[in-house]
Amino acid sequence: MIHYGLKGVTAAETRISFIDGAEGKLIYRGYDISEVSKRTFEEAAYLLWYGEWPDAEQLLMLKGKLQKGRELPGHVASLLKSLPREMDLMSVLRTAVSALGSGPPSIEEAIRLTAVVPVMIACRKAWMDNSVLPDSVNHLDHAEHFLYMLFGSMPTETQRRALETYMILTMEHGMNASAFSARVTASTLSDIHSAVTSAIGTMKGPLHGGAPSEVLSFLAEAAESSDMEELIRQKVCRGERLMGFGHRVYKTRDPRAEALKAVLLSEAGDDDWMKLSLKVEEASINILSELKPGRALYTNVEFYAAAIMKSMNMKADLFTPVFTAARITGWTAHILEQEGNNILFRPDAQYVGPWRVPNGHSSQQK
Ligand code: CMC
Repeated sequence: MIHYGLKGVTAAETRISFIDGAEGKLIYRGYDISEVSKRTFEEAAYLLWYGEWPDAEQLLMLKGKLQKGRELPGHVASLLKSLPREMDLMSVLRTAVSALGSGPPSIEEAIRLTAVVPVMIACRKAWMDNSVLPDSVNHLDHAEHFLYMLFGSMPTETQRRALETYMILTMEHGMNASAFSARVTASTLSDIHSAVTSAIGTMKGPLHGGAPSEVLSFLAEAAESSDMEELIRQKVCRGERLMGFGHRVYKTRDPRAEALKAVLLSEAGDDDWMKLSLKVEEASINILSELKPGRALYTNVEFYAAAIMKSMNMKADLFTPVFTAARITGWTAHILEQEGNNILFRPDAQYVGPWRVPNGHSSQQK
């Protein structure tokens, strides 16, 4: 029997996270995401890497390492400014992470990668905008520092908390395509940089991490349309995927989408994008349940990610890179877990090609 796309196949044990797709629950290291998302980025990252909440001393240690890890090696900074301007930011990031090195998996390197990726994104953005990358401000926490480096000014408390909540909610999600990619590479006993590079390449696709910018295009199209419901109906009838809807695991509401929506409603409820998002969500869910009955299609985390990024003045090209900066925490936790209990990933495929016979004829059967 073939499990196309490995749907429903359990291929490893994990202690990192648990997803209940039927109940809409997400758990990191035993703690419900609603509890984890009230903490800081640093606390949540520590929990994923070490399996426990940090005490005050451990938290200070992690903050220090993250601050130190922000230093961008000279050759990587030059690379970020030499890749063609038309190269998309995810491809740039994939190349730059690969150029960082090829060290064995370790928590130290996981922390450094998590710390440096936001600086890479900010460095490339500054170069593309013909502006200067601000000097790092050491005492700032991870999310605040990321926003400061991106925009060159201190974020508001609302913006800081919005990014921090988004990053915590998206830092880990079980055996998703990019975490699986990272684990496959790690399972060959390759290095941590190769495993993260594989994950970034996987993250880039629109069916995975590339969705939020496509959500923005969908929302813009809906805003311009004279008949939004008809537009959505036509898309579904044409067989198009509505970006930001549906999930391989959640067959009910995605708890991350619900949490992001709650943040947005409390902080940007009057925002035009937020109002538009609410209208498009309602219309899409109604139309999907009518035209795709029984498929249980609801908003996924990417749908409200678009509105949250907009509320921080981020343009669409930053969406997937910011998702990457969050998810790198989960990838590295998976790489370390894979290394600790390794078995090479090597599934089979059923051959359905021709069987060539010596007289030149071919037969479909063997
Ligand atoms: N819009 C319209 N129809 C959909 C959608 C959608 N977004 N998602 C699934 N369907 C339909 C699909 O056409 C199929 O219908 P039918 O049975 O008539 O052929 C049915 O639902 C099942 O689709 P599937 O492809 O077998 O479902 P899947 O579980 O493999 O797909 C998915 C999961 C995320 C690839 C898909 O829902 C999708 O393409 N969504 C849009 C892209 C998106 O928002 N991606 C971000 C995912 S969340 C980020 C993450 O956690 O990685």
